[in-house]
Amino acid sequence: MKLEKLSLGVYPTPLYKLENISAKYGRGIWVKRDDLCGVALGGNKVRKLEYLLAQARAQGYDTVFTTGGAQSNHAMLTAACAARLGMDCVLLLKKRGVTERRGNLVLDDIYGAQVRFVDTDSYDDIYAEMDRLGAELEKAGHKAFHIPVGGSTPLGALGYADCVREMAEQLPDHGAQVGHIVSATGSGGTTAGLLLGARWYLPHAQVTGMGVDDDPFEDIVPVLADGAAELLGVSADRAPGDFRMVYNVGAGYAVPNPEDTPYIRELARMEGILLDPVYTGKAWSGMLKLLKEGGFAGRGDIVFVHTGGAAALFAMDLA
Ligand SMILES: Cc1ncc(COP(=O)(O)O)c(C=O)c1O
Repeated sequence: MKLEKLSLGVYPTPLYKLENISAKYGRGIWVKRDDLCGVALGGNKVRKLEYLLAQARAQGYDTVFTTGGAQSNHAMLTAACAARLGMDCVLLLKKRGVTERRGNLVLDDIYGAQVRFVDTDSYDDIYAEMDRLGAELEKAGHKAFHIPVGGSTPLGALGYADCVREMAEQLPDHGAQVGHIVSATGSGGTTAGLLLGARWYLPHAQVTGMGVDDDPFEDIVPVLADGAAELLGVSADRAPGDFRMVYNVGAGYAVPNPEDTPYIRELARMEGILLDPVYTGKAWSGMLKLLKEGGFAGRGDIVFVHTGGAAALFAMDLA
């Protein structure tokens, strides 16, 4: 089945080998630069939003609701994409972390989103508040499309199956040498899409999700991947050992970890690439630590999917 999709980012994003890092670690390490996808400061949410907002538009919604932490990259990119589509955007953010006007909160404002902080630790409370606000807006003649945290629905995950197809087309010999795809896992949709895409387009590659939060992603990711395949009316066609979760959370979600800082500095200084301390810094550092421990034995090159997040560098210091 063909699903509707908008064109919001600039794709394909670059994919290339990190020559200096590969030489240092004795392994072919590539990067997929989804941080350069051409919307705001880039990031993984744009591929998801191309599907999610296509559905919103097709169904006549004029307003978008979404949620996340105070410094949510997903919320900021939703604000950017909604603005471009002429839709109103309301962000119901957890009143936790850096709530001053820094980092992504500056960008949310520039993109014209309405930010409301909700004093809770539970997304269920936020979804209840979305329902209440949505009913209010409806009375005023509007229609609000609700996007859950991280845009991690089966439909959103399809954006990352597309990313793997794009990589397969970009890689020499269609990725014959790629044994691993690694990415940060925060709500699961990106990893789910990568898993699905790998089965279809890079079947020799194993997907490693690097958890930056403690949720049980080994259960969440396959369910999202199956749901995404179902939307296309096909089977996910999973193979044993095609996916694993490794965690590098440190002291907690969105808490910068001192162990990651040397790896963040090294990538900047050797390759000119910025990572953030909440998602990509943890994923990158977790990947290199795993590599040193022999955790990527015998399967060819590694592709690190850079999922963005640079605005966090302007909201918090590295540890
Ligand atoms: C920069 C960045 N990388 C990775 C992720 C994780 O992606 P997902 O939520 O699809 O697991 C996020 C999610 O917010 C993010 O903002």
